[in-house]
Amino acid sequence: MSQHIGILTAGGDSPGLNAAIRGVGKAAQGVYDMRVIGFRDGFRGLVENRAVDLGGGVLSGILTVGGTILGTSRDKPHKMKIGGKVQDMTDVIVENYQANHLDALVCLGGGGTQKNALVLKEKGLNVITMPKTIDNDVGLTDTTFGFDTALGIATDAIDRLHSTAHSHHRIIVVEIMGHRAGWLALGAGIAGGADVILLPEMPYSLQTVADAITDRVKSGKNFSIVAVAEGAMSVEDAARVQAIHERIQSAEAADERKARKQAKSDLKAIEAGAGDHTLQLARQLEELTGLESRPTILGHLQRGGTPSAADRLLATRLGTACADLINDQHFGVMVAARGEHAVPVPLEEVAGNKKLVPPDHPWVVSAGRVGVCLGN
Ligand code: F6P
Repeated sequence: MSQHIGILTAGGDSPGLNAAIRGVGKAAQGVYDMRVIGFRDGFRGLVENRAVDLGGGVLSGILTVGGTILGTSRDKPHKMKIGGKVQDMTDVIVENYQANHLDALVCLGGGGTQKNALVLKEKGLNVITMPKTIDNDVGLTDTTFGFDTALGIATDAIDRLHSTAHSHHRIIVVEIMGHRAGWLALGAGIAGGADVILLPEMPYSLQTVADAITDRVKSGKNFSIVAVAEGAMSVEDAARVQAIHERIQSAEAADERKARKQAKSDLKAIEAGAGDHTLQLARQLEELTGLESRPTILGHLQRGGTPSAADRLLATRLGTACADLINDQHFGVMVAARGEHAVPVPLEEVAGNKKLVPPDHPWVVSAGRVGVCLGN
């Protein structure tokens, strides 16, 4: 009897999602004769049973299209806002899984989606995931689809900023996405020839950055490009964040809910200020160096548009491997990229396993060797 599979895309959209939906769907239908449906808008669509049939040519022509044909949301199955109240909707998801006679549920997403999928696995569903995010911060996979495209966009932006920074003898501080990981800023900063690269993993000293820019001026280069990851922080802010984390931990240990809530909202206030941080950094560098300075926030441009060839290839490889694993009844895993291969890794090992930039990573070493200031 043919198997029925459901697919959803969750979290922030990412170039390559449609290539992955197509990869798993075409292989499932064409090779294994499975029936494939999609759910709209992530886990919310599964709760609301908004299903669409992905047969009959729906998957044709989407390989090169950005975003996700299914829509997405950041809703969590076990903490979903329904009518203004946060509720655990996992039982409803199990009911809808059964009502649609599903044999497997494919969840395409980043770090949050891996955790959500694990919750559903623990409810007894046959889940299987694939790693997508422009942040490249999912553990146990070489890379995630979306990253390569965003890397190209951010690099192109830095190239363009160079000519205007050079013409006006300015500092341009360009903010690059990546949540709390610095992969995108580091990769695009190196590829685009940024003079300073600031990462969340390596708190920076403002004075060190200003000195590096002043040294460039002394050597006749009176412009600089500063690539700053959205999660980057000064040494002082990093110490404040660390102190808040300690407050959260001790409030949790003492079961003090009010103190925990307050500490969490203090943390959110610091993290929510990413754009403000970039504006402030540009102002501070202007004051310290005497060079005119401009901030540029690339924002969601980095997630839009057609996926790169590398992302189409990766998403197709992982998608077709996912169909093979479903056929083999191999569930509860993420299909990870390892070299030329696609390997299943248990969701228990992936959930919560955030891949950050190690300070001794070869990219960091190379950046230092070509004279990039990393702010430390
Ligand atoms: O995870 C992808 C990402 O683009 C991050 O780089 C960024 O911090 C976040 O999503 C932005 O989220 P939203 O699209 O919800 O504003």
